[in-house]
Amino acid sequence: MEELINKITQTGIIPVVKIDNSEDAVPLAEALKNGGLACAEITFRTAAAEAAIRKISEKYSDFFIGAGTVLSCEQADAAMNAGASFIVSPGLNPDVVKYCNQKGYPIIPGVCTPSEVEAAISLGLTYLKFFPAEAAGGVKMIKAMAAPYTKVRFMPTGGVCVNNLADYLNCKAVYACGGSWMVPADKITGGNFDEIEQLTRQAVELLKEIRA
Ligand code: 3PG
Repeated sequence: MEELINKITQTGIIPVVKIDNSEDAVPLAEALKNGGLACAEITFRTAAAEAAIRKISEKYSDFFIGAGTVLSCEQADAAMNAGASFIVSPGLNPDVVKYCNQKGYPIIPGVCTPSEVEAAISLGLTYLKFFPAEAAGGVKMIKAMAAPYTKVRFMPTGGVCVNNLADYLNCKAVYACGGSWMVPADKITGGNFDEIEQLTRQAVELLKEIRA
């Protein structure tokens, strides 16, 4: 888990992908890599997620893949067997977290209340996803929640974009941000991979400026 968190922290931005056709997976990964982000959270919101993870992991051994929107133990197994390195979920499902812990699958569950943070801590987790970030109170809420839980760190996702990325990343309790702004679903289905590469490059430039 520690190695994973270091890698996510270093990466800084995790593109959150919804992919309808697994044929788009490799060109998408290539665009992300060329833009400077060799990583993605491929969400299980579509039936193509598992095949997309498998295709990317077979093609690029250096591409770092998380499986997102994982709502069941079966999906966690499918994702890890396909080549994912970690599991992300929008909320905290104790059954799924316990299962992943037992199988040794790194998991980053979503939380947005103090009670959920405490449930995560009691399951042995301190690196969490804060979802849906903007709708749940944004940076202000993260700062308020980080005050009592000094060891907990958050990866805000949901409404993060170029306009608020700096506010989130400058927050001490934030280790990375997730977002779909550089991988809009319509650009994936439309095959606009050059634009995805450009948006990714722009995000990476911004990240460098913020961290300089
Ligand atoms: C997620 O699942 O993490 C979010 O839906 C991504 O949020 P965004 O599309 O607002 O970036």
